[in-house]
Amino acid sequence: MTNNNIYFIANWKMYGNLNSLNSVKKVIELSKKKKFKNTNIIYCPPYTLLNDFSKLTKKTRVKVGAQNCHEFEFSGPFTGSVSPHMIASLGVKYIIIGHSENRSIGENNSTINKKIISSIKQKLKIIFCFGETLKQKKRNETNHVLKKQISEGLKNIKKIDNILFAYEPVWSIGTGVVPKISDLQIQMRILKKFISKKFKSKNPVLLYGGSVNQKNAILFKQINEIKGFLVGGASQNSNKFIDIIKKTII
Ligand code: PGA
Repeated sequence: MTNNNIYFIANWKMYGNLNSLNSVKKVIELSKKKKFKNTNIIYCPPYTLLNDFSKLTKKTRVKVGAQNCHEFEFSGPFTGSVSPHMIASLGVKYIIIGHSENRSIGENNSTINKKIISSIKQKLKIIFCFGETLKQKKRNETNHVLKKQISEGLKNIKKIDNILFAYEPVWSIGTGVVPKISDLQIQMRILKKFISKKFKSKNPVLLYGGSVNQKNAILFKQINEIKGFLVGGASQNSNKFIDIIKKTII
């Protein structure tokens, strides 16, 4: 990992309220420092906070992302859902799609593909998540599963300039268990090779997510193929999130 164009994405999941916004100001201040001028910091709060985050970060280097959306681009009779158009109209620039916590409650590769296509039409940048479960890992199915998730999730998509590929082993999310550096290095190389070839892209942006903290970020940054982190738990505390950013960008 070089220090250029590194991504730090905060996935707040179903946490946070209006009071949590205050703590984000520290991160905005950090982003203004010259040292971090090539750093991409993106906050993905729950839908309820998207508008406030958008206002708070306006004219700053910090960007905002949603955590999911409905597959329909505009509107429709879908109680409780939010469309890519609604999200984009708030000034939101990114969207997480394919997170395993949504896959585990019924989202499949085909729905994910529809969501991605609708979101791209709305000019949202996609934080595309994929990863194997522990069971699949134990059965040596990891590469098969990842390639299938990528191929089906990105079906009919030719250009990946606005897609960030977030590899998140399911067994690592929220567990404190992370892959061995040597294993992760091999995995990221396989992914980069596969994605580069499939989409004829020299430099696809690959991220890692799953129990990232200030300690293991230093180790992960040794892996050249990793261009940033998708951080869950540790991102809800601004001091911890800042620590991850500072330790990575030295
Ligand atoms: P975690 O979550 O950092 O809490 O493991 C990562 C994620 O779900 O994106």
